Amino acid sequence: MRLERGTFGGRFAMVMAMAGSAVGLGNIWRFPYMVGENGGAAFILVYVVCCLLVSLPIFFCEAIIGKSQRANTCYLSIVSSFIILSFYSVVGGWSVDYLLRSLSGGFQGQSMEQAREMFAGISASMVENISCMLVFLGLTALIVVAGVEKGIGLFSKVSIPVLFIMMLLLAFNSSSLEGAKKGIEYLIKPDFSSLSGKAVAAALGQSFFSLSLGVGSILTYASYMKEEESVTFAGGWTVFFDTVFAIVSGFAIMPAVFAAGIEPGAGPSLVFETLPVIFSGMGWIVPIVFFLVILIAALSSSISLLEVVVSFLVDEKHLSRGRAVMDVFLLAAILGGACAVFPRLFGICDFVTSNVLMMLGALAFCLAVGWKMPREEVLSYIRSPFLYKIIRYAIPVMIIIIALIPFFDC
Ligand code: TRP
Repeated sequence: MRLERGTFGGRFAMVMAMAGSAVGLGNIWRFPYMVGENGGAAFILVYVVCCLLVSLPIFFCEAIIGKSQRANTCYLSIVSSFIILSFYSVVGGWSVDYLLRSLSGGFQGQSMEQAREMFAGISASMVENISCMLVFLGLTALIVVAGVEKGIGLFSKVSIPVLFIMMLLLAFNSSSLEGAKKGIEYLIKPDFSSLSGKAVAAALGQSFFSLSLGVGSILTYASYMKEEESVTFAGGWTVFFDTVFAIVSGFAIMPAVFAAGIEPGAGPSLVFETLPVIFSGMGWIVPIVFFLVILIAALSSSISLLEVVVSFLVDEKHLSRGRAVMDVFLLAAILGGACAVFPRLFGICDFVTSNVLMMLGALAFCLAVGWKMPREEVLSYIRSPFLYKIIRYAIPVMIIIIALIPFFDC
């Protein structure tokens, strides 16, 4: 049944909302440490190839399902987006925390040791961690409550272009630091000897995460597309913006990491432990801009995660939008609170969603479009019999192979 649904209020807002869902902590926080853990430029190349060859067709599948059915997504997706929303809000909370600290000039003259201690202190302080997470989740809820056009569409239309400009400025700033050259080389000179099977799986997982695939974010957003808006147009631009943004944030972070003589393979704490030190000598404006960028990017993504669950509750359980947002807020606050207090739970949620649930979701969307939907209907969206064949045969096989890599040691 094709339901009457809201829209984003225009093609620009629609593409910005999708790009906003994609551009997020995945680009600024996860991508740089993945690059650092998996060997630099070679990983970036594999990542870009994954985005174009595997993730873009999957994006089309998700969007085709959403647009053709104009409806919410399946149960698996609801569960995965809810879990991601919960642990994502913990990291979103750190960005709130760091923004507040930078507003009060908190990084001036900080040493590496102090920055580490500060991060450890934040992660260990239950009250601080949970209250910042609640602020983040609350902001997310406020935007979603305002609706698809006046909340999500408006927020994305205004904030995403600003975000791009701010990130570009940061990348220029960082690349002009003394000692930045090594960082730039790290990002552009590939060393394929450091590339393992695991890194390839990580690159695919990262491209799914970064493009918000496999949990119904794109599906739900596509269900708000107007008849005349094109799935391939939306997909192409979203992948373009997301990839460019990830690479630009690499250039904002890695040169600074190298300039400060910090290990690039530090893992999830990389951005939060190292940047305050780098910023300590730069005056007060750079850290404020940086953590504001992280916060806006994180919000434009978390709203897409919350919207998946809210749209389901509104359509299927006939809750009002306000009530649905409130209910999900409370539940996510509980799981998010638990993730904030138990780092192991946080790690498990991240692993299970990126390595299992998102892969299963992507596979399901791909099979639904390739094997269940009539060929003619699919072709009316993508217009390429070759791409249709890829979706039918190649992508499912690739997802299965790559999804299995982390479970074997290679
Ligand atoms: N893509 C976002 C990021 O890069 C996060 C996100 C939003 C997401 N919706 C998602 C991740 C759905 C996985 C699935 O930060």
